Amino acid sequence: MAEALWSWSALLAAAGGESDGAPQVPITGFSIDTRTLEPGDVFVALKDRRDGHEFVTRAFEAGAAAALVCRDYRRQPQDKALLRVADPLQALAAVARSARARLSSQARVLAVTGSVGKTGTKEMLRACLARLGAVHASEKSYNNLWGVPLTLARMPEATRFAVLEIGMNHAGEIAPLTRLVRPHVAIVTTVAPVHLEFFSSVEAIAEAKSEIFLGLERDGSAVLNRDNPHFELLAARARSRCASIVSFGSHSRAEVRRERLELEPTGSRLLVSVAGRRIEYALNVPGEHIADNSLAVLAALHALDLDIERAAAAFSTLEATPGRGARVTLRAPGGSILLIDESYNANPASMRAALAALALVPRDRYPRRVAVLGDMLELGAGAAALHLGLVDAIDAAGVDLVFAAGPNMRLLYDALEPWRRGHWAERSEALARVLVAAVGAGDVVMVKGSLGSRMAPLVEALMREHPRLAEAGRQRAGSGAATEEN
Ligand SMILES: Nc1ncnc2c1ncn2[C@@H]1O[C@H](COP(=O)(O)OP(=O)(O)O)[C@@H](O)[C@H]1O
Ligand SMILES: [Mg+2]
Repeated sequence: MAEALWSWSALLAAAGGESDGAPQVPITGFSIDTRTLEPGDVFVALKDRRDGHEFVTRAFEAGAAAALVCRDYRRQPQDKALLRVADPLQALAAVARSARARLSSQARVLAVTGSVGKTGTKEMLRACLARLGAVHASEKSYNNLWGVPLTLARMPEATRFAVLEIGMNHAGEIAPLTRLVRPHVAIVTTVAPVHLEFFSSVEAIAEAKSEIFLGLERDGSAVLNRDNPHFELLAARARSRCASIVSFGSHSRAEVRRERLELEPTGSRLLVSVAGRRIEYALNVPGEHIADNSLAVLAALHALDLDIERAAAAFSTLEATPGRGARVTLRAPGGSILLIDESYNANPASMRAALAALALVPRDRYPRRVAVLGDMLELGAGAAALHLGLVDAIDAAGVDLVFAAGPNMRLLYDALEPWRRGHWAERSEALARVLVAAVGAGDVVMVKGSLGSRMAPLVEALMREHPRLAEAGRQRAGSGAATEEN
């Protein structure tokens, strides 16, 4: 039997409220969704698009140890242990606070925010820190008002390193989350025009990201991108919280400085100076953006005075995940197709990064470069210009053929030279047939768009048409999720 994460009495003390029954099995986790609930989880009935209270009985059928519910919830015949509180989300936050407080004084907590690269950096930290001790990290992109407290509530007491992703769409969202997390190290991967719909400027985004320092522990560190135009602003905000700053990048004054980067089709080799000490390592995932994220990881390891060489050995074991750069080789008459699945999300920064990574694929293996692009969402008034602005990146990447979906991608599509235009459609589904017919042996195909642009079905259509030769990455995950994951 799995070890208990919380005793019932400790959970009651943490959450407050009244107990109505007691669990018959050890509490081993937390869940807010009965579709993914594991036996032993405490089901937390949150109110979102649906009211979680409608699913309490189903949670018990799935093996929930207990449920955290509102006081006025009416017990159903199949229900087991209930913990009744005024507000389950608040109670979850209270459990999160206790989970953070019960970590040993040796434990170290890292928080990751930024416009792009949060999940990738978090996963790198998970892999690297696991070489040094027990790690607990956010699942997927669980980085919002329920994702952060849920991750903390799930955190085992014996955690040595906790890595929390913290995201936001609006100013003011990060502050309460970082105060729950109380990180020793706060990382801002980069600041770029993402979710611009809700901000007056990219600088305003930088301000909102700087909220992450509000929760820093005393003598904490801020890990900042020295190459980003908003570095000074972030550094000033971090300093005002008495944080020491560890900067990373190619900038001559970066403490963790990239001295050499060899971009290869399937990964990168780096030589990095960490406060004057040279470290060489290989990354198993291609692209300059991934290499940049690894610098942030080194900076965090340095800030915590950890064994960098030992931790960095994990870089060579990383895998791109489906939707975020996973590569699949497909069999086609007369050869193969390389499919790059970037369908999980998109914004101008990650589009450029993905196009640059596409350009690393050698022409002698895959002579024709095909980009299948869906609208980048939530960009506000600048959306048209930000889409049009990709023309240069497409040209620089030597893309031979573009398929596009969505009204904003229409603008980009129309601005391309006629020979680059494959096909445009209002909705991605309408591209499937022409795309499948056009693509063949010798093509590398990169599919990318915001989740709401529904580009994953095009990846699936290509995979249905052509059998897989080999696969890098794991099973498709979360393609049915309803909202963009950042
Ligand atoms: N430093 C970076 N600069 C530009 N694009 C990046 C960077 N890091 C990751 N990306 C790209 O951005 C997208 C989202 O990456 P992810 O790590 O999931 O970020 P987030 O969690 O912040 O949304 C992916 O397409 C990824 O390849
Ligand atoms: Mg994310």
